[in-house]
Amino acid sequence: MDTSDITVSARFPQGRARPFVMVIFGASGDLAHRKIMPAVYELCCGKAWPAKTLVVGYGRAELDTGGFRDGLRQAVREHARSAFDEGVWRDLAGRIHYHRGEYGSREDFERLRARLESLTAEADLPPNYLFYLSTPPGQFEDVIAHLGASGLARKGAAGDEPWSRVVIEKPFGRDLDSARRLNGLLAEVFDEAQVYRIDHYLGKETVQNLLVMRFANSVFEPIWNQKYIDHVQITAAETSGVGGRGSYYDSAGALRDMLQNHMMNLLCLVAMEAPASLEADAVRDEKVKVLRSLRPIPPDCAAFGVIRAQYGPGEADGRTFRDYTGEPGVAAGSSTETFIALKLNIDNWRWAEVPFFVRTGKALAQRVTEIVIQFKPVPPVLFNRPPTGPMQPNQLVVRVQPDEGISMRFQVKQPGSPLKIEGVPMHFGYAGTFGRKVPEAYERLILDAATGDPTLFIRSDEIEAAWSFVMPILAGCDRVRGRALPRYAPLSWGPREADDLIAAGGARWHTPAAMDPRQAQR
Ligand SMILES: NC(=O)c1ccc[n+]([C@@H]2O[C@H](COP(=O)([O-])OP(=O)(O)OC[C@H]3O[C@@H](n4cnc5c(N)ncnc54)[C@H](OP(=O)(O)O)[C@@H]3O)[C@@H](O)[C@H]2O)c1
Repeated sequence: MDTSDITVSARFPQGRARPFVMVIFGASGDLAHRKIMPAVYELCCGKAWPAKTLVVGYGRAELDTGGFRDGLRQAVREHARSAFDEGVWRDLAGRIHYHRGEYGSREDFERLRARLESLTAEADLPPNYLFYLSTPPGQFEDVIAHLGASGLARKGAAGDEPWSRVVIEKPFGRDLDSARRLNGLLAEVFDEAQVYRIDHYLGKETVQNLLVMRFANSVFEPIWNQKYIDHVQITAAETSGVGGRGSYYDSAGALRDMLQNHMMNLLCLVAMEAPASLEADAVRDEKVKVLRSLRPIPPDCAAFGVIRAQYGPGEADGRTFRDYTGEPGVAAGSSTETFIALKLNIDNWRWAEVPFFVRTGKALAQRVTEIVIQFKPVPPVLFNRPPTGPMQPNQLVVRVQPDEGISMRFQVKQPGSPLKIEGVPMHFGYAGTFGRKVPEAYERLILDAATGDPTLFIRSDEIEAAWSFVMPILAGCDRVRGRALPRYAPLSWGPREADDLIAAGGARWHTPAAMDPRQAQR
C-alpha cells in the first residue's frame, strides 16, 4: 500500500478553541507585553483565536482599560512578528479589559469574580476561564489560593464547559520542597489536568520536531542508542548579561534559571523512548522515565565535577561588560553562577555510558540553543586512518534557536586527486523550507492551553523528578558558597574548565558557527 499521501493529522492536535476569558495576573509586566499579548495578536491574525474571547488584565498598577489597551498596542507593534494590522488590533482591543486589584486580597478577587460574571454575561460567553499567572513567583501562592477561595477556579472542569485552567510561569519553585508545596496548593484548587506549567522551550517548533524527527523517520531511531552514539551535547547560550534582572538572576543562577527546566526538557525529548501514543500523558510518562534514570550527582561530586563560573569584566564586540558581581541587583561577592556545564549519564539500556554534556550561560559568544548528536567514529580501516584519516565522526545538529533547523555532517570526497576526505554539512532550515517565520513558542502554548492540550506543559511528577535530580547538585554548590567562582571573558565560550570537562570524555564542544546555514550552503 502506498502510504505516502496519508495525511498525518492530529499531532500535535490543534482543535479549535471555544471562546473563553483569559485573565492575566501581572498584566502590566514585561512578559505580558513582550510575549503573551503579541502571541494573542498573532493568533488573531491567523484566525486561530476564538472570536468573542476576552482578555482581562489584573494587577496593582493604576491603570484603566484605555491605558492598558494603549500600552499593549505599543507592545504589539514592537514585538509581534507580523506587520501591525489596525483592523485586527481594533477587533482584539475591543475585547481587552483591565481590572485593578491586589494579589493577596479576598475582596479584590471577589470583585474580579463579579466583573468576570458581568463581562461574560454582556458578551454572551460561557464562564470558561484561562488564568495566566504572569507575576513574579512570590505571588503565585496568593493568586492560586484566592482563585480557589473566590470560587473562580472550578476543580475538575478541565474539558467540559464551563472550564477553568491555570497557566503558571516559570520558575516553578526554587527547590524540591517549594515545588512540592506549590503542586500541593494547585492540587487543592485544580485537578492536574487543569494545570499548565509552562516551559516556553517546549513551544518551539524545533523542539516539537525532535519527536517527529525521531519517530517519523526510519533512519534515525535504529541508530539512536549507545551502539552508535558517542555522546550528546546540549548548549543554550545567551550573549546578554543579566541586564536589569540582576536581583532575580542572583537568587536563581544558571542552574535554576535554565538547567532545571529548559535543559532537562531538551534532554528528555532527545533521550526518551517512543511513547505508547501521542496522548499528553503517554508523552509525559516517557519524559519522567528519563528523569528518573539520570545518574544522581552526589553533592561531593557536584562541588567539583560541575563547572560553574561567572562572566568577568571586559570589552567585546563593541560592548562593555561589568564583572557579574558588579551588576545592579547582584550581591557583592555573589557566588551565583552565570555559566554551568556538567556531564550527565542516563542509566538505561539505550543510553548506558553515553555522556550527555550540557552547558548554558550568559554573556557567551553566540546566542544559540542546539543539540548535537555525535556518532561514533567509523573503524580505522579504509578511510579512517592515514593518509585520509582520522576523520570527523558524523554529527547531527538540531538548532533550536535562532535559525531553527537541522544539519547533518558527513564525509565526502573532495574533487580531484589525491584522495582527500572532508566533512560537509547538509542543512535543513525552517525559514528557507517553509518560507515563513516560525511561530513564537507562546503562540503555540497559549493556543494549546486554550484548546485543553497539556502535552507541551510540565506535569507535577515531571517537575518534581527534575528538582529531585538537581537538589544534590544545589547542595554541592551550597558547600562551596562564598568561594569565588572562576571568571570567563564576556562573549567567549565560557571557562577553560568546561573545555577540560568535555576533553576528559575525549570530545570537544561543537562550535555553533560551524553549522551556520550560510556556511552549510557552501
Ligand atoms: N519576562 C520574561 O521574558 C520571562 C520569561 C520567562 C518566564 N518569565 C516569568 O513570567 C513571570 C512574569 O515575568 P515578568 O518579566 O513579566 O515579571 P515582572 O514584569 O517583574 O512582573 C509582572 C507584574 O507582576 C506584578 N508584580 C507583583 N508582585 C510583584 C513584585 N514583587 N515585583 C514586581 N512585580 C510584581 C507587577 O504588576 P502590578 O504591579 O501591576 O501588580 C508586574 O508588572 C515571572 O514569573 C517570570 O519569572 C518571564
